[in-house]
Amino acid sequence: MKFVFIEPELNDINVKETQKASYIRKSFQVGPGIEAARMYSTALGVYIPSLNGKDLDERRLLPGFTDYDKRVQYQEYDILSCLKEGENVAGCILGDGWYRGNLGPFNNRYVYGQKTKYACSIQLVYGDREEWILTGEDWKSFQDGPLQENDLKKQEVYDATKEMPGWNEPGFEDGGWHGCALAEYTGKVIPMEGEPLLMQERFTPKVLHTSDGNTVLDFGQNLAGIVEFTVSGKAGTKVSMVLGETLNEEGNFTMKNLEGEGNKNEKMGVGQRLTYILKEGKQTYRPHFLISGFQYAKLEGWPEEVRPENFVSVAIYSRLKETGTFTCSNPDVNKLFQNMRWSQKSNFVDIPTDCPQRERAGWTGDINVFVETANYLTDTRAFLRKWMHDLISEQFENGNFPVIAPRVPMFGGESSSSGWSDAIAAIPMAQYRTYGDTTFLEEAYDAIKRYVECCRGMARKNHFLHLFKRGEHRQYIVDTGYHFGEWLEPGGSNVKDALKAIVCPDSEVATAWFYYSSRTLSQIASILGKKEDEEEYVSLAEKVKEAYQKEFLKGGMPQSTRQCKYVRPLYMGLVENEGKERLAKALNELCVKNNYKIGTGFLTTYQILNVLTDNGYQETAYKMLEQEECPGWIYEVKQGATTIWEGWMAIQDGKVGTQSLNHYAPGAALSWLFSRCAGIRPIGPGYRRILIRPVPGGTFTYAKASYESVAGRIVSNWERKDGHFVLKVELPEGVPAIVVMPDGKRYENAVTGTYECEL
Ligand code: BGC
Repeated sequence: MKFVFIEPELNDINVKETQKASYIRKSFQVGPGIEAARMYSTALGVYIPSLNGKDLDERRLLPGFTDYDKRVQYQEYDILSCLKEGENVAGCILGDGWYRGNLGPFNNRYVYGQKTKYACSIQLVYGDREEWILTGEDWKSFQDGPLQENDLKKQEVYDATKEMPGWNEPGFEDGGWHGCALAEYTGKVIPMEGEPLLMQERFTPKVLHTSDGNTVLDFGQNLAGIVEFTVSGKAGTKVSMVLGETLNEEGNFTMKNLEGEGNKNEKMGVGQRLTYILKEGKQTYRPHFLISGFQYAKLEGWPEEVRPENFVSVAIYSRLKETGTFTCSNPDVNKLFQNMRWSQKSNFVDIPTDCPQRERAGWTGDINVFVETANYLTDTRAFLRKWMHDLISEQFENGNFPVIAPRVPMFGGESSSSGWSDAIAAIPMAQYRTYGDTTFLEEAYDAIKRYVECCRGMARKNHFLHLFKRGEHRQYIVDTGYHFGEWLEPGGSNVKDALKAIVCPDSEVATAWFYYSSRTLSQIASILGKKEDEEEYVSLAEKVKEAYQKEFLKGGMPQSTRQCKYVRPLYMGLVENEGKERLAKALNELCVKNNYKIGTGFLTTYQILNVLTDNGYQETAYKMLEQEECPGWIYEVKQGATTIWEGWMAIQDGKVGTQSLNHYAPGAALSWLFSRCAGIRPIGPGYRRILIRPVPGGTFTYAKASYESVAGRIVSNWERKDGHFVLKVELPEGVPAIVVMPDGKRYENAVTGTYECEL
């Protein structure tokens, strides 16, 4: 496919200012006898393609987010039915998007370039003759259209008085428009990967008149998306809305949790502001490129009574097939489950992100901990394969992996961290287990190997604060490099935790992950039949494990009262047999002593319920899940949460803190509802063998789960009554399955049916 890139902005741009969107048009002739017509297009920026006045695509924010220095996706359209004989017009609105808009934790702009670019190739087929219309200097462009400011994150300003009716249709007088400049693009232009980013559920708001005198809309659901509205008024009237996630303790709209109290630093603000200048009369507006994480909208300057029917919030996320359902007898857990689904939706916006408002970055650690849960909820194959390509494309020279992919500037230089960079090993393995496909493993293999070698190099070096430490095993302890560590245990804050990690990384966390990735690499080598590598990395993993035990366990025990210090060695397999039993017992005691309140952070929350359950402490797991006080999952539900919060104390005693209310990472623990509570798990890759091993407990009198695996539909519904346990199982025909009942009875050749036991 041949693409010619053009820049619609001819003059130098002032990088200090926000930029206007470009409108681009090309008039072309279609002769008689046309038989086929296709259009291929892409942009460095975000764009809306149209033909003869009609938008060609319902997907949003095309061409999607990739590291544009390396690759950009193109879109393809069959345009025959949109064409007519005579004059036709191809149109495009081109905005900043991820290419040059505000990006990542520090709101960097122009990360990938200064001027947006567009490429379009139109193919017209007449019998055996073919005609190509390619973007070039003769394509017309204009910057002073209605879209006066555009950004995914900060602000969209639309001046309806500047609308140009018919600008992308034949017969438009484009005298005031100018030509474009040819531009170079050295990356790869590739076909679309991933899943379509689409407008989905819609919510009508309640109108609140808050005590500080504002009019605020409450859409009832926190999500990533837009607000569409209808308004009537005089031409030139300016209205705006700011989109946020919560009300404060006085019931007033606040952005405090996203940008700090009374944020004075414009750069650090998330913005999420839409400004609209009315034309005369009644009009409806749908934002073009702005997308926000919000539940509430504060309105400013509304020229008429604010009526709920004039507003609707529309969720926007990548459309993945839903594969998992879960309900149980505890309505709060059911709500929590829905909240987790919404946090996935809000953060599967073309790439897997941390949160949909503040940073919106492809944080590698967040999807690392969430992948298993995501795989129960949805079919992630295409979505995560695209993102794995993004990740692989970002590997550093030294083999390490970034904490964010596609690339977004961090602290300067190359930022990596254990638990985050390890996504390179964890995700392909998770995909193999769930879908049984070795493609992921093959594609990532070399990258994982280089990564593990990089970790080996880090381990050989010593942190200057640890130079006094001696011992052979020290060459397997990772204490150099930057590592976020456990991250955000209850009471932790992003700034505090980041500073702690800068002073000295937590080598226990980093070494455990070094073990995890070398062991995973050895398993992948074995699956792919790479015998030598398998042996090499089994032996490396063993040495790291020994070193871990020597350095971090005294008499087999962690010298700490932090829950994470027990969960991690347990779930990673860093302790065995009796050592494992002792550690699990100690973890259980810590949890009981803590009144079943969660004490873990980012890197172990997703495993705490699993390790408790797998070691015989399922009652503790249930109590931790169901307890209602802070910190805990149900506490958030009781506070009215509609998504999963970033920090356990994001809202405490009604006081709004400084954390996002829409992070899926702490919700990742809920894969437990499928894998332990309902007990649906793959034994062989891709559910080629299935295990159904339900674990009842807590207040649950029933649980119902279904999962559309690649091998077929699986259902596990159980009910307990007066000490009697009834399990109804549905299994795909011909797939070997084992059912293990709570009393320990095993059915080796299980089939669809009802199984019963006494509890
Ligand atoms: C993000 C996280 C991310 C982290 C790194 C935060 O600011 O929102 O979810 O993984 O930084 O620790």
